Order: sequence, then structure tokens, then C-alpha cells
Amino acid sequence: MELELFITPLLLFLFSIFILFRGKKKPDRLPPGYLGLPLIGQSLDLLKALKADKVENWFQEKITKHGPIWKVGLFGYPTVVLNGPTANKFIYTFDGNILTNTQPPSMSRIIGSKNLSELTGNDHKRVRAALTSFLKLEVLKQYVAKVDEEIQHHLQTHWHGKHEVQVQPLIKTLTFNVICSLLFGIERGPKRDKILPHFKHMIEGVLAIPINLPFTQFNRGILARRKLVPIILDLIREKREALEEQKQQANHHKDLITELLCMRNEDGSTTTSDEEITDNIILVMAAGYDTTSALLTFLVRLLANNESIYSTLVHGNASYLRFYCYHCKKQEKIAKNKAHGEALTWEDLTKMKYMWRVASEMLRINPPVNLNFRRTMQDIEYGGFIIPKGWQVLISQSMTHMNNDIFQDPTMFDPKRFEKHAPQPPPFSFVPFGAGSRMCPAIELAKMEILAMMHHLVTRFTWELVKKDESFKRNPMPEFDQGLFVRIKPTKA
Ligand code: HEM
Repeated sequence: MELELFITPLLLFLFSIFILFRGKKKPDRLPPGYLGLPLIGQSLDLLKALKADKVENWFQEKITKHGPIWKVGLFGYPTVVLNGPTANKFIYTFDGNILTNTQPPSMSRIIGSKNLSELTGNDHKRVRAALTSFLKLEVLKQYVAKVDEEIQHHLQTHWHGKHEVQVQPLIKTLTFNVICSLLFGIERGPKRDKILPHFKHMIEGVLAIPINLPFTQFNRGILARRKLVPIILDLIREKREALEEQKQQANHHKDLITELLCMRNEDGSTTTSDEEITDNIILVMAAGYDTTSALLTFLVRLLANNESIYSTLVHGNASYLRFYCYHCKKQEKIAKNKAHGEALTWEDLTKMKYMWRVASEMLRINPPVNLNFRRTMQDIEYGGFIIPKGWQVLISQSMTHMNNDIFQDPTMFDPKRFEKHAPQPPPFSFVPFGAGSRMCPAIELAKMEILAMMHHLVTRFTWELVKKDESFKRNPMPEFDQGLFVRIKPTKA
């Protein structure tokens, strides 16, 4: 039923793109494969594989049939699908003016045309530099206590005293709150509460079929953006006024918006316009919301099912740790050195090496972002084939993450793969955060949130899954069918 509701608007959307490509002369040396039905190509097959989290199987079937480079019609565009570390390197490092980022049309309409993922060349470099000047480690280190405070408040409000919690939606709200507080300086209170529902509608709109009719999800997303933009412009105005009042004493790294307002060109003019700040605030909210929360939800599920990893994490009793990892302080020990409610420090996070290995292994097996699309601005040659101008190029992280030649026994969950002395995977084969000029600029922030939240969870609660075999779909972000309900108990002090 869900799929049927999806097909009609998809057909309408794809028809316009079909008209665009109809009648264009195909160059020689195209990769093998079938573009499939006009307009739809094999989009529905891919969506089905995504929903069942079977993208690797879908890719593998085509590779067996056509070889490592093949073509297919996806979401209205002829697409060449590539696979392996060399292909990853090609996609991530090729000239960004020729192989540009491509997003669904709904993205620029709702997130805004000046958002980083829509920009190319010098504009991309300039706005990205502005974002990374706040998201870099030296700046973020100062904010561990702030992230910790949000997490502790979240646990106190939504977990303590409860018998059952629905993990994924709760953690999404947590990641939203962390971003509001840390990046935008919007503290708990009515302003934050006012933003959240508009933001949720916007995210649903971005992931919807772009049919702008009353009552469609896409339309709700556009309306939500219209309500959100004046709130953000007000926020920018308030921060600009505060900066003018404080003049020299102002702390530029107070939050991301203040940082962006302070950045200046050589001639003293601002580097980023208010429109760019607005669109990128919305982008950062969206990019940080589903990704980190998906990883945290996978980790909660893992620890409910895997006694040995849970125990190693909390008590540090795995025998190999004694030989290889004497620096890996178990979470219990870190907690015991703290007064009740005392915030974690940057130093505490640096001791959580085993926890990050577990998270990295989860990123390998279940990367929250699993498909990267690009579009060609001119004909490109790759692997002896031509990828014509205007076509899409696609890779999936899972194709290298689950490759037996790169990660032995790839379906086995084994954090030892990420030990310091373990053989390193070849370059561009472990890419949960992408690579090159569009690599996720917020890795350190994501890491900080993951380590702090998991530390507080494992030291305060034990839990079991309410539904042992609850599965998830990729929409395209991973969504657990029932939001992953767990039964929780506080740990004995
Ligand atoms: C576990 C968490 C996360 C994962 C797995 C992840 C993954 C990714 C990946 C794979 C890309 C590159 C996409 C491409 O090359 O097409 C990306 C880009 C991006 N991510 Fe993340 N991300 C995470 C968390 C975050 C957070 C918390 C934020 C912000 C607060 C964020 C902001 C961004 C932005 C702005 C970009 C676009 C960069 C550009 O186009 O230059 N991400 N992310």
C-alpha cells in the first residue's frame, strides 16, 4: 500500500526528467546494464532493497550480471554505479566542478539553495571553511560540558523513572537539542519548543516526493520552512546586536551563528550572507539529526543483544584488552572518578577508546548514510567507459564495508578491527563519513555526542529489547519499525 501511494507522484515527477533526456544521442562505450523503464528505471527495486536493508545484495546481483561498472535508471536519471575503494576515491576526490553533488530537488526547495550540499567550487569552499572553523576539534573541546549537560538533562527527563522507552525518537530529540544549544545557542525553553515541530515537518518534506499540493508531505515541509526562516533571521539579528554591544570582548566561538557572523573577508565585509547562514543552519540541523541518532539507536540495540561487548564496555574484562589496550579505561572506572552529575571532560572522552571502536564497527556494518550520488557536468571517462554529461554516479558505502577481501568475515561484528595494531583497511574503503572535499565536517561533534551519551547510558541503565527481532527500513535514513522500544532498569549504585 505504502509503495502504491508512492508510485503515482513519483511517475509525475519522473516524467519531466524523461522529457529532458529523451532523444539525446548516446555516446559509445557506455557501461553494460539496463536503464530500465523510461522515467522509473529501477528506482522501485532500489527503494525496495533500501527498505529491506539489502542494498549490497541488489548491487551484488548487478555486478555478477554486468561486471563492476554498470548502468541503471534511478530517480529519473541514467546512472552509472561504481564499486570499490578506487571508485570511492574517484567520487570523493574528483574535481567538484565536474562531478557535482546531487540532492533530490526537494532538498534545495526546503533546506534552501545556499546550503553547503548545493554549492560547488569556491562558494562551497568558502561556506565550508566558515562551518568547519566552529566544528573543528580545538573549538569543540570547550563544549564537552555543554553536550554532557544536555544529555544528563535528557536522561533525567525521559529515561529515569521509566520502565520502557522508545529509543529512536527520543534520541532524535536529544540530537536536535544538542545542535540547538551548541551550534545555535538556543537554550531550553519556548524558542526551542517552537522550532522542533516545524523542523520535523521540514525533514519529512525533504524525504518526500516533491509534489507541492495541499496536504502532501512536501507541501507541509515548504510551509514549515516558511515558518522557520523568520525565527532564524530573528536569531541572527539578536546575535548580531549582541556582538555589536560586546565589541572587542565578544567570544567568536560562542556558537556557530556567532562564528559565521564574525568571519570577515580581507576588506572587512562578512564572508557569509544572512541567506547563507539561514540555509546552512537548516542544513546542519537536518544533517546532524537523523545520522547521529541512527548510530546511537543501533548501539543501544547491539548492547541489548551482545552481552560480551556490553560487559567489555562497562567492566573492560575482555582478555585481549589486557594485552593490547591498557589505555582503554572502562566506563565504570570513568564514572567512579566523578561526583554524581559531574560533567564529563574532553580528557574523559579520550579514554573511551574501546567505545569508539564499537561505534566504528557499527558505522562499518550499518552506515547511517549508505548511498552517495554525484552528477556529471561533462562527459567523464572511468574504467574504460564514458559517463555522459548529466548522468548520475552512485556508490554505496556498504559495498566496501562488506567486502570480504577488505574486511574479513564482514558480517561479524568485531571491534578489534579498529585496534591501533590491527591491519588498517586500504584508503577509501572505510567511508562512513565520506572523504575528500565533502567529507562530513562534524565527525568530532558526532563522536563527542556518541561517546558521552553511550557512557551515561551504560553506567546508569541496563536494558532489554521489548521486541527481540525489531527490524528497520532505510527511508533512506534507518528507521526502526516501532522506534526500538526497550525495557530499562537503573544500575545499582
Ligand atoms: C554518525 C553521524 C554522521 C554520519 C555517519 C555522517 C555522514 C556524512 C557523510 C557520509 C557525508 C558526505 C556525503 C557525500 O559525500 O555526499 C556527510 C556530509 C555532511 N555532514 Fe555528516 N554525518 C554525521 C553527523 C553529522 C552531524 C552531527 C552534522 C552537523 C551537526 C553533520 C553535517 C554534515 C554536513 C553539513 C555535510 C555536508 C558537507 C559538504 O557538502 O561539504 N553530519 N555526513
